[in-house]
Amino acid sequence: MMQQYNKHVSAKPSHYDKEAEFYDQFNEHGSSLINRYIETTLHKHKAKTVLDFACGTGSQVFYLIKNGYHVTGLDISRKMLSIAQNKAKKAHLEVPLILGDMRTKQAGTFDAVMTIHSAIGHLTKNDFDKSLKNIYKNLNTKGLYIFDIFNLDYLQEGENITHLTIDGQKKIGDTIRREIQYSTIDSDGVLASYDIYHEQKGHNKPQISNAFQTLQVYSAEQLKHMLNQNGFKIVQQCNIDGTEFCRKTSPRIMNIAMKQ
Ligand SMILES: C[S@@+](CC[C@H](N)C(=O)[O-])C[C@H]1O[C@@H](n2cnc3c(N)ncnc32)[C@H](O)[C@@H]1O
Repeated sequence: MMQQYNKHVSAKPSHYDKEAEFYDQFNEHGSSLINRYIETTLHKHKAKTVLDFACGTGSQVFYLIKNGYHVTGLDISRKMLSIAQNKAKKAHLEVPLILGDMRTKQAGTFDAVMTIHSAIGHLTKNDFDKSLKNIYKNLNTKGLYIFDIFNLDYLQEGENITHLTIDGQKKIGDTIRREIQYSTIDSDGVLASYDIYHEQKGHNKPQISNAFQTLQVYSAEQLKHMLNQNGFKIVQQCNIDGTEFCRKTSPRIMNIAMKQ
């Protein structure tokens, strides 16, 4: 019997322990559009120093460094961060990669702070509010906060929630991992995703396990309100590639906000 959730709670540091080593394989094509748009935005606003406040394995960090930005990465997950650290070592790059929590960490002041790939969904609404206050403190005046999150209005429309269903298979070394995931959305904007994993090492019997996770998602209006309340002005809400956002048909919201 698969476990159900009672309420959404902020993710623990161990949340990604199981999937960290597979993360890049499942995510390898997922970042190119958003990374290009982040770079265009940073360039447009002449931002040079960037704090990636949920850097994970470094999907944005290494892309932006290659494009000439000074990037500091931070993440709450020791495992995700150690993958990023190994990549930096392999590429002979000196990158500050810090273990920490976006709700509380003071890492300096930067031209831009970002949390990409629905990272804020791992927080409760209260903890996102706390993070916004902290992000404000980590930004220079007129600094940018750049983040994306699933669009609640889209997920609540018709059968759109079924578009999040995953059925995929990847190989790392001699281990094959198959993931099947389906999701539900409730009226408070809690997106619950239920996984079944089949993991087979070499010719051993496949091990079958279950997992579930919740993400807090928002409408564009809710985000606008929270950002305004915390001293930010919305510069843009768009799709993750910078194209025009549509409340009912855009799966994700890309937000560019400026510290006032
Ligand atoms: C979906 S991953 C995104 C990683 C990366 N930005 C990317 O696009 O691949 C979300 C990340 O948020 C991190 N995270 C969750 N809660 C956090 C917190 N309170 N402070 C810092 N990082 C957190 C997780 O550990 C995870 O690495």
